[in-house]
Amino acid sequence: MHLTLRQLTLFESVARHLSYTRAAEELHLSQPAVSMQVRQLEEAAGLPLLERMGKRLYLTEAGQEVYDYARRIGQQLQELDEVMASLRGVQRGHLRLSVATTAKSFATRILAAFSRRYEGISYSLDVTNRKTLLGQLENNETDLVIMGQPPKGLDLEGQAFMENPLVVIASPDHPLAQEAGPIPLQRLEQETFVVRERESGTRIAMERFFSERDIRLQTGIETTSNTTIKRAVEAGLGLGIVSLHTLRLELMAGTLVVLEVEEFPIIRHWHLVHRRDKRLPPIARAFQEFLTGPEGRELGSHSLPD
Ligand code: PGA
Repeated sequence: MHLTLRQLTLFESVARHLSYTRAAEELHLSQPAVSMQVRQLEEAAGLPLLERMGKRLYLTEAGQEVYDYARRIGQQLQELDEVMASLRGVQRGHLRLSVATTAKSFATRILAAFSRRYEGISYSLDVTNRKTLLGQLENNETDLVIMGQPPKGLDLEGQAFMENPLVVIASPDHPLAQEAGPIPLQRLEQETFVVRERESGTRIAMERFFSERDIRLQTGIETTSNTTIKRAVEAGLGLGIVSLHTLRLELMAGTLVVLEVEEFPIIRHWHLVHRRDKRLPPIARAFQEFLTGPEGRELGSHSLPD
């Protein structure tokens, strides 16, 4: 099969967008130029790769295969680029970092400290939930991920670098905020909780914690945002469970309080995770050493409110 890298790159973009127009925009080419290359690729394959039904474009079975290969080849080329960059030295590289929603409260501070050490590095920082992070690792779409404990059996390598305590929060005028002494877990069954979405690490950890203790919580608003949980709890819409990392400003301003609940906080750990089979670019290795070394630990100890 005779094809060119250029045809594969163009086809990858058309298949990802399922649109010639958007691929042409992305690649700064004319639409006819893109469709001509895709037609030539179809001729080389001897099979149609795309079909149009009504207004929509679909990948054929052969198209799906070519798309999978095109993506993997693209990633390999990027890796090659990074290896070459490594031979030129760590000073010029690009770090692709993805972090759990909750970790954004400290990730930028870590990146700022790291970038003072390595100038001339560019970054992409994606913030998303646990499920999406695992998908990104599986598809090799990121170098490193900051998340809770990675699941076993996925061929991932993770190193714990910092504690992540989960606490129960309330508005200061909530009746439980006035209670002295540890609040029994059972008492929480009478309250409504504002919770994160099901794919969130915080939500998974809290559900596991309560179900292991046979406690049934009532859940109210469900949201993908820790900030929304905090605002809803401040507004008296219920209690919340969030990472202590997200509470610096609210505890300082006194708009939220951490309740003293039996067996709390739930202690989790932040992990720096990558695919075991991934050849990490040097800048990613430098970041790994930075975060798990003395400087990273020092930053970690300052990223929780006093
Ligand atoms: P998340 O946090 O709830 O923002 O996904 C990740 C985690 O604690 O694992």
